[in-house]
Amino acid sequence: MSAVADGVPCELLNWSVARAAGVEIFVRRDDLLPAWGQGNKFYKLYYNLQALPSDAVCVSFGGPYSNHLHALALVAQKMCVHSVGIVRGYAGKSLTPTLADAQAAGMQLVFVSRRDYARYSAPQVDAGRHAWCQDKIGIRDRPLHIIPEGGANAEGLCGAQVLAERILAQPIVGPGRALHALWLAVGTGTTLAGLVNGIGGDARVQQVVGVPVIGPHPEQGYHPLSESIKDRCGINSRWRLETGFSLGGYAKTTPEYLAFLQDFYRETGVQLDHVYTGKLFWALRSGLISGSIERGTRLLAMHTGGLQGLRGLQGQ
Ligand SMILES: Cc1ncc(COP(=O)(O)O)c(C=O)c1O
Repeated sequence: MSAVADGVPCELLNWSVARAAGVEIFVRRDDLLPAWGQGNKFYKLYYNLQALPSDAVCVSFGGPYSNHLHALALVAQKMCVHSVGIVRGYAGKSLTPTLADAQAAGMQLVFVSRRDYARYSAPQVDAGRHAWCQDKIGIRDRPLHIIPEGGANAEGLCGAQVLAERILAQPIVGPGRALHALWLAVGTGTTLAGLVNGIGGDARVQQVVGVPVIGPHPEQGYHPLSESIKDRCGINSRWRLETGFSLGGYAKTTPEYLAFLQDFYRETGVQLDHVYTGKLFWALRSGLISGSIERGTRLLAMHTGGLQGLRGLQGQ
């Protein structure tokens, strides 16, 4: 991937809450790209798929509405790579729209127990994972490239670093136009860590702020994701987590939050998903109303896609 401005729109958000707070919010619209290249996923997958031998099989993990598996299926199809999605605890049920799309794109789906999933899907490599995958998938004569859940590996980190270069090449971050902060939703923290590494000491983006979508309300500001992010981009003032906005955990919602997503779409024309980008703007709303995001702040929020996952909400 070359580090040129990529033409992804960075639009000034027309949102009354931001106007009232005197804060300028731009939104990077990676959600507007074609389905196979949408959001942050393409960046995390690119280096995983780019240098594979032609007979290799790319294997990864996700839940029944996983954005990651959905994206992997589409990108792998585009790059003519055979992909396998190992799905958490969904055996015997009819396919969700997400899994049906993945299968239609050529992904082989393998359903496993929640216990096995928890053991083998994490970034920390389990010594028996390769053999377990061979066994589950039924492929022994081809090389397997195994990507942990959410694309949280070294290749994913490198891809997210390229995303930083693309942001720095955008006209909204030109000379004398520094951003006080770059905000994004955080799942595994890979995108955040890659962005922090890619921005490095460039003063045009002063801080990267992540809104975790997992985990309970943390005590004393500590969040379990902090450790794994620190391991990948160090401890420094160039990033922080804005915690307390997961609404109790992954994909959790409340009636007030769902009403917010609808109002936001109606007012700004920007559709959010309930799992990631909705939580990001939910946190921003809180900061704007409380004044913790100061008047005069200029920030960029990442629309990292994930709109396909809204079909999970409709299914509830
Ligand atoms: C739409 C969307 N936004 C943000 C994220 C968070 O990315 P990361 O896991 O790199 O923190 C994800 C998950 O990959 C996602 O699907």
